[in-house]
Order: sequence, then C-alpha cells, then structure tokens
Amino acid sequence: MLINSIEEVRRNVKEWKKEGLKIGLVPTMGALHAGHLSLIKKAKKTCDRVVVSVFVNPIQFGPSEDFDKYPRTLDADEKLCNQEGVDIVFAPSPKEMYGDAGRLSNDTLTYVCPPFFYVNKLCGKTRVGHFDGVCTVVLKLFNIVQPDCAFFGQKDAQQVIIVKKMVKDLNVPVEITQCPIVREESGLALSSRNKYLTEEGKKDALVLNKILNNIKSCYQKGITDISALKETAYSFLTDKHDLEYLEILDRNTLEEKSQADNNSIALIACRVEGVRLIDNIYLGGI
Ligand code: PAF
Repeated sequence: MLINSIEEVRRNVKEWKKEGLKIGLVPTMGALHAGHLSLIKKAKKTCDRVVVSVFVNPIQFGPSEDFDKYPRTLDADEKLCNQEGVDIVFAPSPKEMYGDAGRLSNDTLTYVCPPFFYVNKLCGKTRVGHFDGVCTVVLKLFNIVQPDCAFFGQKDAQQVIIVKKMVKDLNVPVEITQCPIVREESGLALSSRNKYLTEEGKKDALVLNKILNNIKSCYQKGITDISALKETAYSFLTDKHDLEYLEILDRNTLEEKSQADNNSIALIACRVEGVRLIDNIYLGGI
C-alpha cells in the first residue's frame, strides 16, 4: 500500500500497535536495489509489519550535491516492495515532511545535531550538515512510524554509528539493526549512485573494493601499523580515481588509533567519473 500522508501512516500503525504487532521500518531514499531488498527481507523475517519509507531528503544534501539529479523511481520501488510483501510504502512529499518552505535550513527547522566528534571525519568532513539532515529525517520517521526496529546498511557505516548514537543519547525506543553490504559479483558495493556510472566507470570503481580487500589481507598477514596499511592503497589508484578519504578507525566509535586491531574498520570514499562512491570493510571479520 502506497501512502503519502503522515496521518494515514499513523492511523495504520495505531491499529497494528493495538494488535501488539512488531513493526519494522526500512528508511530509504528510493531507487531500490538488492542492498535495500536485503534490509527489507531482514525486516520481514523479524517483524510482523514492515514500512519502507521512500523520501529523497532535501536537508541532507549540500547546495552543490546531487539532490535534483538523485534517481527517483517510485513506481518501480513500489513494485519491488509489493513483491517483498512490504505492508506500507511511505512516500511523503518534501512539503508533507517539512511544511511549506520545502527546502529548509537550520534557521527555520528544529534539527538534530550529532556530536562533532562523529561528524568531523569521513563523509561528514566534506558533506557539512549532511548528518544533521540524516538524523533529523530519521528521527522524524521514527516519530511518524514509531517502529520497534529500524534497518540500515553497513555501507553507510558512519550513518549507522551516528544513528545508533542518536537513539542512545535521545532514548529513542527503536532497535537499530545493521545489515551487511551487498555487492555485485564484481565486488562493487551496491549503491543508487552506481546508476550514474558507465560500464567503464563501473570497472574503475572496483578499486574501492580492491583497496579495502588488500588492506584486510595485509592486516591478516600481520601488518597493523595504520599508516603502513593506508600506504598500500596508492599503487591501486590512477588518474581515473579522485580519492576523498581512506581511514582505518574503530568500528564502533570511529576513534583513530595508530595500530589496527580486530575492531578496526577501513573506510574509503572516492570519485569515479565524478560519482562519489563509498565502501568499507571490517578488518577483524564480519
Ligand atoms: O541511507 C539513506 O538512504 C538515507 O540517508 C536515509 C537513512 C534514508 C535518510 O534519508
């Protein structure tokens, strides 16, 4: 069932709650791919009712980012959700979510600001205000849908860590489940932005996964010095790759260390054909 209004979602959820059903939310920006479907499948397995939100959230895009260009494929998304047995596809308009002003700023909207320590690195360093926008919309979705559980992908590792922190700090009664990265057979992590890549670009984009796998295998061979592990990346990069960051941090807290350990995560962001791609890998296994 496709629903655009907050009131109607609430009405449905209220009935489900009366019946004591467990509700799962999969927040998305649409352009659904197998990565999203893995979250939906997990939600279906563990919850009685599943809501998928499809909302390209204007306030998490910077002024020079791809908000207008971001793929919008609601009909196809709805079909996929129906195939997966999703109970509600919640696809509100920006006006429904943010009122008349549409694209708002933190001059006019109450925002959630995650702590500087978590946002002053990785994606947050270049995408200033991005995680304020993410946390704000996620908290709004939590308040609208009031799910018991919400499902996020590990590909956006910084996002999940920040959402978990928000939920803990603000006592939000939602259990956050993180699901593994889904990859093409080639190793490329699935992303809605892969649609922008040419076939050649997709091959060039494999470098992200190659760099991460190589770091993991060096770590497994006993190299723990983080500078040395990061150095290994440079032999993979060509002029087709515009590396934004490569970091090895604590996988739960995003703290920097000098030596990698089994709690380390390597994270990379790199532009290929002007498309910003991210990926990550746990050094100590799943
Ligand atoms: O990961 C995403 O698609 C978005 O950041 C999210 C969580 C749906 C919030 O808009």
